[in-house]
Amino acid sequence: MRNRAWTLTAHPEPGELIGKRHFALAESDVPALSDGQILVRTVALGTSPAQRAYASSAPAMHPKVPLGAVMRGRGVGVVVQSKDRQFHSGDIVEASLGWQEFAVLTPAHAGDGILRIAKLPNPMRPLTRHLGVLGGTGATAWFGLFEVGQAKPDETVVISAAAGGVGTVAVQLAKRRGCRVIGIVGSDAKARWITSALGADAAIDYKHDDVAQRLRELCPDGIDVYFDNVGGALLDIALTNLALHARVVICGFISTAQGEVIAGPKHYPNLLRKRARMEGFFVMDYLARWDEAHRPLRRWLDEGAFDPAEDVEQGLERMPDALASLFTGANCGIKLCRVAADP
Ligand SMILES: NC(=O)c1ccc[n+]([C@@H]2O[C@H](COP(=O)([O-])OP(=O)(O)OC[C@H]3O[C@@H](n4cnc5c(N)ncnc54)[C@H](OP(=O)(O)O)[C@@H]3O)[C@@H](O)[C@H]2O)c1
Repeated sequence: MRNRAWTLTAHPEPGELIGKRHFALAESDVPALSDGQILVRTVALGTSPAQRAYASSAPAMHPKVPLGAVMRGRGVGVVVQSKDRQFHSGDIVEASLGWQEFAVLTPAHAGDGILRIAKLPNPMRPLTRHLGVLGGTGATAWFGLFEVGQAKPDETVVISAAAGGVGTVAVQLAKRRGCRVIGIVGSDAKARWITSALGADAAIDYKHDDVAQRLRELCPDGIDVYFDNVGGALLDIALTNLALHARVVICGFISTAQGEVIAGPKHYPNLLRKRARMEGFFVMDYLARWDEAHRPLRRWLDEGAFDPAEDVEQGLERMPDALASLFTGANCGIKLCRVAADP
């Protein structure tokens, strides 16, 4: 059997958009399995801004992908051969498969961090759901909003990158909790989508609107929960309009995730004036509790009461462009890449 894989060939420079020029697509034989290994055929791959950090040479939270190695990324796939007693041919897994069609994995060495292997005993179709609402994206929105943000009914929740992966789930979850939800997005089309299809009460287009003024108009009593996917200037503006005892949830900082210099936040004294809390979190710290989020989310998906909001590219070839779309804002919803049909 032959494999196709994207390997990392160059680190993105600070401020440089990651894309095809940093990777090479190469073909090779699928190696024979050793004892304790499994062979997984990739069905779909997920994207995350963290993947740029894996590929860059700048300091980051996770281990780096060395030049020449297969690019790291989580995916969903089917076991096609197994020399590990816990796994069988036909098992569906969600794992760190890498940007490739076939992955050889060693479950005993995977651990429970970013390389973990999760067997899916009762997978939902299409399997892409397990990379989106029923994967890390759904868990991030849930624990960010409810554990860190403590969002309660009737509170005003503002979500940045609200038309992105985490954002679309957070918008729908906050609405279900009975919050007033305002999304910040990068285009008029995204603003219309999150209000008409996802139920947001209002949207702000940060590329064309005066965000500070719109936040004052839309949140006259201040923001109770600011769910921040973006950081930078938008975070600073949000800090000027907090309600008493507000919670600022630092989920991500994509506006400065390409190595830009971070200025501020200069309005942090408002945290004191408003007795507010600003807290970062990492979704993997909640791994043992992901089921608390995925159980209701799965029920709502089954009932057709929750929009999976997937934005799916077709073909392994598209992976570098799929990742780039997170930084250009070309994605709308949870950006995924289908590599093969569901088994
Ligand atoms: N804390 C955790 O454990 C955890 C886990 C997963 C993800 N995250 C974070 O969650 C955030 C969302 O991740 P995702 O995978 O769902 O990505 P995403 O939101 O689907 O994609 C990123 C979005 O950010 C917006 N964006 C890009 N550059 C921007 C800029 N300069 N200013 C304002 N907005 C910008 C774009 O939308 P527009 O068109 O609206 O600009 C784009 O669609 C990221 O910050 C990620 O790092 C955190």
